[in-house]
Amino acid sequence: MTAGTESGQEKNGPNASGRGIVLHPHIPPRPGEEPAAGAREPDGRLEEAVGLAAAIGLEISHAEWVSLKRPKPSTLLGGGVVERMVGLIEALEIEVVIVDSALTPVQQRNLERAWKCKVIDRTALILEIFGARARTHEGRLQVELASLTFQRSRLVRSWTHLERQRGGVGFLGGPGESQLEIDRRLISERITRITKELDEVKRTRELHRSARRRIPYPTVALVGYTNAGKSTLFNRVTESKVFAKDLLFATLDPTMRKIDLPSGKTIILSDTVGFISDLPTHLVAAFRATLEEVLDADLVLHVRDISHPDTEAQRQDVIAVLADLEVDQDRLDNATIEVLNKADLLSNELKEGLRIRLLGNEPSVLVSAVTGEGCDALLDAIDERVNQGRLVRFYTLDAGNGAALAWLHENGTVRDRSGDGMSIRVQVDLDPADADRFERRFHTTADA
Ligand code: GTP
Repeated sequence: MTAGTESGQEKNGPNASGRGIVLHPHIPPRPGEEPAAGAREPDGRLEEAVGLAAAIGLEISHAEWVSLKRPKPSTLLGGGVVERMVGLIEALEIEVVIVDSALTPVQQRNLERAWKCKVIDRTALILEIFGARARTHEGRLQVELASLTFQRSRLVRSWTHLERQRGGVGFLGGPGESQLEIDRRLISERITRITKELDEVKRTRELHRSARRRIPYPTVALVGYTNAGKSTLFNRVTESKVFAKDLLFATLDPTMRKIDLPSGKTIILSDTVGFISDLPTHLVAAFRATLEEVLDADLVLHVRDISHPDTEAQRQDVIAVLADLEVDQDRLDNATIEVLNKADLLSNELKEGLRIRLLGNEPSVLVSAVTGEGCDALLDAIDERVNQGRLVRFYTLDAGNGAALAWLHENGTVRDRSGDGMSIRVQVDLDPADADRFERRFHTTADA
């Protein structure tokens, strides 16, 4: 995977941070045991981890998955693997090893000692990525909160050998307060401060959102597994330039754009952060802001990389994360379009097979965000969904009432217009709520 260098992206992009190795510990199923539901091939998992590592600018010199029959409490990995890596790390001048799993603080310390380089686990890696990509104030606060919570969870008894007693003097600690206690207290204080600040930011966001709700544009949220192509599709349909490149997590904070559908109806399209498997729980909570857009959305576009060998497992992951977020499942089922992206990477045979499977299964559209194939059909499908429940109304307006006419054009789909110089008769499709708003605002009623 290569880092994109499009101009204007550097400020949010990762900094090159040295040479690294990625190790993915794979726990094989026991003989005779079925692989766990949703389990993926270790090759795919390794590839994802390498993508994540590239997202923080690491140059990956070596990557492999290692079979982990019995996790070792002291190092997680077996002695043979630890030993073998020593030589590689030295020969390749490695600065960071990423272990794509959760490491205890003890395991991390032991590995760092054995390998004489920095070792980070999956949670720390994801936090690094989120930290590098957070764009809004709220995003940054949430990343900081998540990292502090992570750090606090790692200040555990195994570190007590590092504790030293402080005397009665000193700024921070009270008499007899150990370093561990001071660290804990400082972290807790920062967590409290950030939580308060976040509440404040959320409150103002709530105001922004309720302001948005008053704008009668339906919102459509793009969700999907990381690298599924959400940003590329977003760019394609909004013709805008959002940070899109071959890096995971190119998107963190929701990006919103107004677009006009073929019917003339305006919607707000929002791009959200990509999901990944095994997202640590406190990170899910930390990124609720992005996902709250989904809870609010009138329609969800679930973008899938249909060419990916793990596409089905990825789909399940996204659905599981959304279910964790207590999205109303029925509402989600009824208001989701599956966008099967990267059709250009499929053979004609596969595409044909998919098309046949999709027949009669309307909430799916096969597209390619890169070639544009299927994007018109997608817009039509969105149009159809957001137009469901619209009313056909006739209004007679004064010929001079340009404001009312402009309002109808902006908020509805004007089907027909005729006039005699004094008045104009308009046929328009409108949401019932919009019809009410129109009639109140312009003191008029629909023609019988
Ligand atoms: P995150 O921000 O990590 O969640 O990713 P994303 O879902 O927004 O994916 P993004 O749009 O950044 O695309 C990821 C990669 O897939 C990029 O290299 C895109 O060029 C590529 N890609 C996206 N759509 C298509 C497609 O239809 N066909 C092909 N061949 N590649 C695509």
